[in-house]
Amino acid sequence: MADGNLIELANRLSGKAMISSEITEDDVKSVDMESLIAHIIGRFENKDGMKILDKKELRLALAGMAEKKEPVQIEVIRSSDFKPQAKDIGAKYSIRNTRIERSNNTVGDFVDYFKDRFSKLRDIMKSYGGAGGTVSISAIKQYISGREVGVIGMVYERTVTKNGHVMMTLEDETGTAKVLVYKPQIKEKKAIDLFDTASKVVKDDIIYIKGKVSGPFFIANTISWPGMPVRVRRRSDEDVAIALLSDVHIGNKLFLDKQFAKFIEWLNGGVDNRKDLANKIKYVVVGGDLVDGVGVYPGQDKELSIPDIYEQYSVFFDYMEKVPEYVEVFVLPGNHDAVQRAEPQPQINKKLLGGFERPNIHVVANPCYLNLHGVKVLSYHGASLDSVIQNIAGCSYSNATSAMKEIAKRRHLSPIYGNNVITPCKNDALVIDEVPDVLHMGHIHKNGYEEFHGTALVNSGTWQARTSFLVKQGHIPTPALLSVYEARTTSMAFVDFNG
Ligand SMILES: [Fe+2]
Repeated sequence: MADGNLIELANRLSGKAMISSEITEDDVKSVDMESLIAHIIGRFENKDGMKILDKKELRLALAGMAEKKEPVQIEVIRSSDFKPQAKDIGAKYSIRNTRIERSNNTVGDFVDYFKDRFSKLRDIMKSYGGAGGTVSISAIKQYISGREVGVIGMVYERTVTKNGHVMMTLEDETGTAKVLVYKPQIKEKKAIDLFDTASKVVKDDIIYIKGKVSGPFFIANTISWPGMPVRVRRRSDEDVAIALLSDVHIGNKLFLDKQFAKFIEWLNGGVDNRKDLANKIKYVVVGGDLVDGVGVYPGQDKELSIPDIYEQYSVFFDYMEKVPEYVEVFVLPGNHDAVQRAEPQPQINKKLLGGFERPNIHVVANPCYLNLHGVKVLSYHGASLDSVIQNIAGCSYSNATSAMKEIAKRRHLSPIYGNNVITPCKNDALVIDEVPDVLHMGHIHKNGYEEFHGTALVNSGTWQARTSFLVKQGHIPTPALLSVYEARTTSMAFVDFNG
């Protein structure tokens, strides 16, 4: 196709650099675009002033691509007397990749996207019975003051009045209503709990409110999110375990290569640490940020030990190649990976795998539902955790599951629209439409585990040491701590690969 690479280059560099008119399609015709773009971004990152890609800059970027990189040696000791029980158990898994029905980013598409979210979550709420018998918002106006009714709506706005009451504008397809939650005047538990709940409501939340009509207002007595039904987790009939990890960040100088190699060695029976668990590992889920990426944030090039994106993936898959072949591995992308940033994210492009193919390594989308030996695992990288932690009272980076609980309650993986990028699809694939037994996330580099209404909430930490970014933010990560979920007993264990 004429001018294909040059147009792609211009699109990808848009906002980052300008292309001089002296560059023609011939200059970039048969060039590996992924690698070229990464090199150009890397070169321009430390430059002040106008960033213009002229012939000289292009030549230097191409020369950088041609530089031979030293292959990274990964040594894994395999124990010859390791006879894992998981080897004798056949894999039983299925993958439900995210269905992405792309739209054109028009205003109408956003409307459709929110309508889909609203109707899915309303159906979920109604299916529990707790939110049955609701009326449409426009119907409220027909009721006299004092009448008690229930409505389901999307929060358009939440403010705090001069007197400290919470005021919300709730909408559905029929209209809007002003909902008032009084600041508790007396220390009555019910009123305090209701006010606490109202304080945690955020814009775009889809909630059920039961309350009384009072003139132009609707006074709330009960507020609830779709929630998760309380239930007993499904368990596998065979004694297998699932290793959950994320945020490997290969290519960053702070990637903990020795610890990660030790984990791979452990899977092969070569490390004397909880061998009983290594023996049972049948599945490994890697929840995104496999590599550190290139051009993800300003100045990143100074923090990379491997500046080439292909080389970063090649090292990652070199490790994966050393996972025993009877272990099924599922890898999904995160915000550092070389796929679109907007969620849901498709699986990592085959080009980046460099021909790597193994029957037990599965490249999947973010988010992804996995059924592993009868256990439903919903794995999502967790980019939305930042906005949830920043906007919802009671959530923090030090308590990794605090924000996961808010996400689970809302039955939506990215409930706060606008803070992290979402692809406006015709369908909202980020709705948690199936209640998982295990909800797995990463992203904040902090391990956490908590049971919520029967679902195991797991944040699988990181394999990267504390970055200067985390130091500035005052966050302390928990690197090289592997989360292992035992599918038959439904218990959780942590294996420490530090030291
Ligand atoms: Fe990460």
